[in-house]
Amino acid sequence: MDKNAIIFVAGHSGLVGSAIVRILEEDGYQNIITRTHKQLDLTRQADVENFFEEQRPEYVFLAAAKVGGIHANATYPADFIMVNMQIQCNVISAAFANKIKKLMFLGSSCIYPKNCPQPIKEEYLLTSELEETNEGYALAKIAGLKACAYYNKQYGTDYVSVMPCNLYGINDNFGLENSHVLPALLRKFHEAKINNEPSVTVWGSGKPIREFLYVDDLADACVFLMNNYSGNEFFNVGYGEEVTISELADIIKEIVGFQGGIIMDSSKPDGTYRKLTDISRIKGVGWSPKTDLKTGIRKTYDWFLSQYESEGFAQR
Ligand SMILES: NC(=O)c1ccc[n+]([C@@H]2O[C@H](COP(=O)([O-])OP(=O)(O)OC[C@H]3O[C@@H](n4cnc5c(N)ncnc54)[C@H](OP(=O)(O)O)[C@@H]3O)[C@@H](O)[C@H]2O)c1
Repeated sequence: MDKNAIIFVAGHSGLVGSAIVRILEEDGYQNIITRTHKQLDLTRQADVENFFEEQRPEYVFLAAAKVGGIHANATYPADFIMVNMQIQCNVISAAFANKIKKLMFLGSSCIYPKNCPQPIKEEYLLTSELEETNEGYALAKIAGLKACAYYNKQYGTDYVSVMPCNLYGINDNFGLENSHVLPALLRKFHEAKINNEPSVTVWGSGKPIREFLYVDDLADACVFLMNNYSGNEFFNVGYGEEVTISELADIIKEIVGFQGGIIMDSSKPDGTYRKLTDISRIKGVGWSPKTDLKTGIRKTYDWFLSQYESEGFAQR
């Protein structure tokens, strides 16, 4: 990508989109265009087409999506499949109609079968049934990655898709109702510390095994692939190492400095037992993760502390 190229980052206010903007700015890209959800609702096809015709971006990072935890996915499956399909269909078709040079599609490792071998290779896609709790979201993401592959095959476009593992970092959602496990635990331990509570209750048995990637590493991988890969393969992007939920709780307890106990609430769902991505394909084209889990969580906690007292943050 030329440093003066017009680059559209869809979803720039989100966890992934804001990290991509950070990395692009650090790398000296001058013409990054963004729109808030309010300014441009990507589910509205005509508005998306007008935006592309006016702004004529050359590169697109599609990091806009309806995202949420287990509870939200299980409660609103129709919204998760329809909103995500509308966003990706509108952006990918407008990108094609305006002959952009390259597009990066953000999927998720939840596209893979719930009981596939571990670590998960890209070729395990569509080999058996999905995890029910987020099937709608997963099907939308599969449709998106296939749409990119089919455009490449039919029209010779250069669209790339990445399937990240669980992400965390600056600008994450710390809402207790619909956030992912890592930000939820960071907030719980922090509030237990400042309120001198005797213990923190962690959902589930603590046994499930998870992989977490610092979001700036994911953004770095996206920019790397935009600059260094052309072809029809899609890529897992992960950290390649895993922890149990119990170990994660211990790490966060230590970083926050909470002195109380940890209680596992086994009445709450565990979700998929293990989900580790195989990242040998992206390593094969020259990219590797940089930020270890403790360093990433410390950076995230520092950012959380800088925001916690700010207007409305703790009410999210
Ligand atoms: N978070 C993870 O652990 C994770 C893991 C794997 C893959 N991913 C993928 O990464 C991508 C981004 O996820 P994220 O975690 O960054 O989500 P996020 O923090 O919720 O950000 C989503 C962004 O999309 C915007 N958006 C949503 N609906 C929109 C619409 N109709 N029109 C315009 N903008 C809209 C949101 O704006 P508003 O907030 O204003 O609505 C927000 O800026 C998704 O494709 C997701 O599948 C995320």
